[in-house]
Amino acid sequence: MDIKPENCKSREVYKLLTGIVVPRPIAFVSSKDKNGVHNLAPFSFYTAITSSPPIIMFAIGERGGTKKDTLNNIESQREFVINVVTEEIAAPMNDSSANFKSEVDEFKEVGLTGVPARKVDCLRVKESPIQLECELENVIPIGDHSHMVLGRVVHFHIEDEYYSGNFKINVEKLKPLARVSGPNYAKLNDFFSLEKSFNSKKIID
Ligand SMILES: Cc1cc2nc3c(=O)[nH]c(=O)nc-3n(C[C@H](O)[C@H](O)[C@H](O)COP(=O)(O)O)c2cc1C
Repeated sequence: MDIKPENCKSREVYKLLTGIVVPRPIAFVSSKDKNGVHNLAPFSFYTAITSSPPIIMFAIGERGGTKKDTLNNIESQREFVINVVTEEIAAPMNDSSANFKSEVDEFKEVGLTGVPARKVDCLRVKESPIQLECELENVIPIGDHSHMVLGRVVHFHIEDEYYSGNFKINVEKLKPLARVSGPNYAKLNDFFSLEKSFNSKKIID
């Protein structure tokens, strides 16, 4: 099968990319608008891009030619929280992707508990075991109808039982949820390790 993206509709290319770039982590983003209304939404075009300083990115597409609430909130308040999604909060996370009106408090709507963050003025999800408090670094328009949000992590919240010591996370316990394509998700709970065993003559020390 050969497919040229220039011959496809944007929805068709979206389906290809979201089926091929898998599994994707989910940034469950909490933000607040200028009137104090709390917002929650998941974004799976998401990754960490550098650790010095700690910067993450996620991409927000437009909806019918207008910006989504998360982008409006982040542009006006310049801060947000990324809540790690586990299997236990899959359903409310998925519910929060509905197109709620801007004035709706989505914590209440999907049944999750908001607790204050330490360094940014928005709520984090209590039911999520790890949260990243972020300040906006930059918003970069990408392509025809998307924006890349770069956030600097200014605080890590990690529940003690998910911390293995020496800055390591207990991923087996965390059981993070991943997005696949369409309505499909994946459970990450089958891990294995590989040791490095290359021919040392060909390796630069
Ligand atoms: C698991 C999941 C991942 C999603 N990833 C993205 C994404 O990467 N970019 C995006 O624009 N929308 C994504 N969406 C859709 C948004 O969550 C949805 O448009 C939401 O209503 C936006 O909320 P807001 O208007 O409150 O910002 C995703 C939805 C789900 C369920």
